[in-house]
Amino acid sequence: MKKTSSLSELGLATNVSGAIFRPLPSAVPPSPNSNSTKISVIGAGNVGMAIAQTILTQDLVGELALVDAMPDKLRGEMLDLQHAAAFLPRTRITASTDYSITAGSDLCVVTAGARQIAGESRLDLVQRNLALFREIVPPLAEHSPQCIILVVSNPVDVLTYIAWKLSGFPSNRVIGSGTNLDSSRFRFLLAEHLEVNAQDVQVKLFQSSSPILFLIF
Ligand SMILES: NC(=O)c1ccc[n+]([C@@H]2O[C@H](COP(=O)([O-])OP(=O)(O)OC[C@H]3O[C@@H](n4cnc5c(N)ncnc54)[C@H](O)[C@@H]3O)[C@@H](O)[C@H]2O)c1
Repeated sequence: MKKTSSLSELGLATNVSGAIFRPLPSAVPPSPNSNSTKISVIGAGNVGMAIAQTILTQDLVGELALVDAMPDKLRGEMLDLQHAAAFLPRTRITASTDYSITAGSDLCVVTAGARQIAGESRLDLVQRNLALFREIVPPLAEHSPQCIILVVSNPVDVLTYIAWKLSGFPSNRVIGSGTNLDSSRFRFLLAEHLEVNAQDVQVKLFQSSSPILFLIF
């Protein structure tokens, strides 16, 4: 039997793309990517990837950049996100160990951190994370001089102060996740106790003359 070897013998035009992909006459225009916001997530671990997925599902950005020190893990995480593209709003997703991919970010979320060793206090951990932040924060500030830096790595308040010092940014552009997680846990516990939706629990603190008051709506 004669083997077919050329596209023309198969009846295809030499422009393969044009031969295979044809616009549908009644198709809607391609979905736009009009969002010009860019967020970079530093550290593609548990927290970094949870943040990345939330950013994508909530359609917050036009571009999401991931940075991690471990190239293989980073590539795997990037591919997982890219391969979910069919189910998510249109977003450009990039990943690299090189901080140049963060250039032009509006927000840089720092979740990179050394793992706490059993028996190690959060304050012991700060020495190791200080060394990491010296590698991370200056290039972020250099590539995105107008960005906001959001620090999540622990100990979060200490590292936020370090990030502020290393960045040279004004203090209102370097923020920590602070006690958000603790508040969220507290709202969950109150909601469980009261058998209501955690989203309906608002906790406001008033430091009056006497003890702190919790107001729950
Ligand atoms: N603030 C909060 O409420 C809160 C909540 C949970 C976790 N955390 C903190 O967030 C941090 C991350 O937690 P996790 O569970 O994702 O840890 P993880 O170990 O899963 O991920 C950390 C990631 O950082 C990367 N990394 C290490 N050094 C790096 C460097 N120099 N540059 C770039 N990437 C680097 C690692 O490769 C890893 O992928 C920890 O410090 C943790 O304590 C904070």
